[in-house]
Amino acid sequence: MVRSTVEDLKSQAGREAAAGVASGMRLGLGSGSTAACFLEHLGARLASGELTDIVGVPTSIGTEKDARRLGIPLGTLGELAPLDLTVDGADEVDPHLNLIKGLGGALLREKMVAQASARFVVIVDEAKLVSRLGERTRLPLEVVPFEFDSHRAWLEALGADPEPRRNRNGDVYLTDNRLMIIDCRFVNGIDDPEELERRLAGRAGVVESGLFLGLAHEAVVAGTGGVRRVAPAGGGELPLAAGG
Ligand code: A5P
Repeated sequence: MVRSTVEDLKSQAGREAAAGVASGMRLGLGSGSTAACFLEHLGARLASGELTDIVGVPTSIGTEKDARRLGIPLGTLGELAPLDLTVDGADEVDPHLNLIKGLGGALLREKMVAQASARFVVIVDEAKLVSRLGERTRLPLEVVPFEFDSHRAWLEALGADPEPRRNRNGDVYLTDNRLMIIDCRFVNGIDDPEELERRLAGRAGVVESGLFLGLAHEAVVAGTGGVRRVAPAGGGELPLAAGG
């Protein structure tokens, strides 16, 4: 049996999600390496004439560049919301399809676009599946640079080990929104993601967190056994995010 590399798996997830796009759709275009695979397959379907009349809202400057290169027409959320479908990657996916996103730094725009979508499909390789959020990756927070260090003690009291993200040269990392990222490690994972999200949302200076709770309608998971579409555990009805 040929072993699939992680890159193969990302491409397979992207291809499956691109196959689910129909002509005429208004799309949210995610960011990161898996979302880039989706864009490539989407662009190929568009170039072959199999798809027509689609338009996308990019979630980062990088995705905007990729989409332009691939000839994918672009618009803004203001013009196009509510979107029919957003496809994006994730850093962790739990059985309820709650997510951690933002290791690529685009979490604020990604959440705005996901919330404006009638359907949000997350595409991952199976290594991203976890039983508990935070068990493997850090939770990124997008924060205003002003007095960012004042969050440290408050975040530690919430059980986090916070670290401002830096570029390789040691400079502070800035997002497309000219904001900073604080990456928060939770040693045993996140006990209560809903409560944590509520606390973070009430904190002035924290613009957005990488917790995406109750937003994903479906996960396309690529593994060595093939690609499968996964619904949230428990099968609970998710509200349509658009306009919410
Ligand atoms: C970008 O900010 C992130 O939310 C990405 O969607 C996430 O980090 C997944 O990226 P990869 O597909 O590159 O792992």
